[in-house]
Amino acid sequence: MRGNASALFRATFGGAPRAAASAPGRVNLIGEHTDYNGGPVLPVAYAARTYVAVAPGEPGMLDMVSTREGQVARIDYRAGPLAGWGAYVAGVMRELVALGAAPLAGGARVAVASDVPVAAGLASSAALTVAAAKALSLLAGARLQARQLAGVAFRAEHDHVGVRCGIMDQMSAALARPGRALLLECASLAVRHIPIGGRLLLVDSGARRELAAGALNERRAECEAALARLKLELPELRWLASWPAAWLPRLKRALPEPLRSRALHVVGETARARFGAQLLARRHLKRFGELLYESHESCRQLYDCSTPELDTIVAAARRAGALGARLTGAGWGGAVLVLLREGKGPCGKGEAKVTREIRRAFRAAYGREPAIDVVHPSGGVRREPVR
Ligand code: GLA
Repeated sequence: MRGNASALFRATFGGAPRAAASAPGRVNLIGEHTDYNGGPVLPVAYAARTYVAVAPGEPGMLDMVSTREGQVARIDYRAGPLAGWGAYVAGVMRELVALGAAPLAGGARVAVASDVPVAAGLASSAALTVAAAKALSLLAGARLQARQLAGVAFRAEHDHVGVRCGIMDQMSAALARPGRALLLECASLAVRHIPIGGRLLLVDSGARRELAAGALNERRAECEAALARLKLELPELRWLASWPAAWLPRLKRALPEPLRSRALHVVGETARARFGAQLLARRHLKRFGELLYESHESCRQLYDCSTPELDTIVAAARRAGALGARLTGAGWGGAVLVLLREGKGPCGKGEAKVTREIRRAFRAAYGREPAIDVVHPSGGVRREPVR
């Protein structure tokens, strides 16, 4: 895909791009729906990346093409409400202008090539916005830090596109390191890079979902409502994730459903993610795997963000002896992460049995097979050569 962004640029606009960058999708190991509640997350960068090649364009205009869309989209990024995939790049441009890090002419031609699946819970939008922020700021001669790129990308999606996401995906796309998981505390933005043990598989249910319109924003509103009520109990509470785990009975009394279930998920998931990061660092994979199953159950029962397809995959992985499995990303479709022990050969221990059982169970229920990939934790945003 790397060469494809440059090739697409040349084929579409004539001439060579002047700057290029790429950023990865992510697979979250544990810590789901905790980021916007001030809790911890533990993502790895997925080897699939989004490549963005750019050159100056007409002032005020973005001319954009992607390997997915084919057609050139022209947006006046300064004007009015934004829509479609170009809105993400337009949001990035607006934020770079605000930072004084936008290309001088104030316009750009942009070509995008990506192998990160869209709406599969793998943070394709953050891969796009972080790569675009890097490429466009390079075009302006600005050297933004990885955290600044994450900030630009987050505000583009949150403030301009209107997805009420947290900061996990953008920080992962910006800061991830090969072979490491990123422990990110979302209230303080403190990070730690933890070596990954075991083998990770990604099983794509094939079911897609659209975040901007829907469930994520609804869940976030529920979490805010829960926080507002819990502040009556504990006025200094700033984040839902900071509710003391020892006070669950009090939380239960203070909240009606469904706020109670949402808050119980967030508080439990916060503890699991912190404990999980310690277990991973010490290579206690068996216990770490159990936490993944617990996390999935909590997502399913309390946060209500699973689907029957995802549950089928997790149950099959468990039956076949995988160390752990859970939905990854927002949920409501998308993919399941499966944890196995490293095997002696190129595969994980028991991998053939696990994948066979997942394929069998999924085919029996849905008449098709899910795509299964190995996750090779990779690095974050980087400059790409211009060809
Ligand atoms: C989406 C959001 C993230 C995070 C996850 C759920 O991917 O973009 O910020 O909230 O859902 O953990």
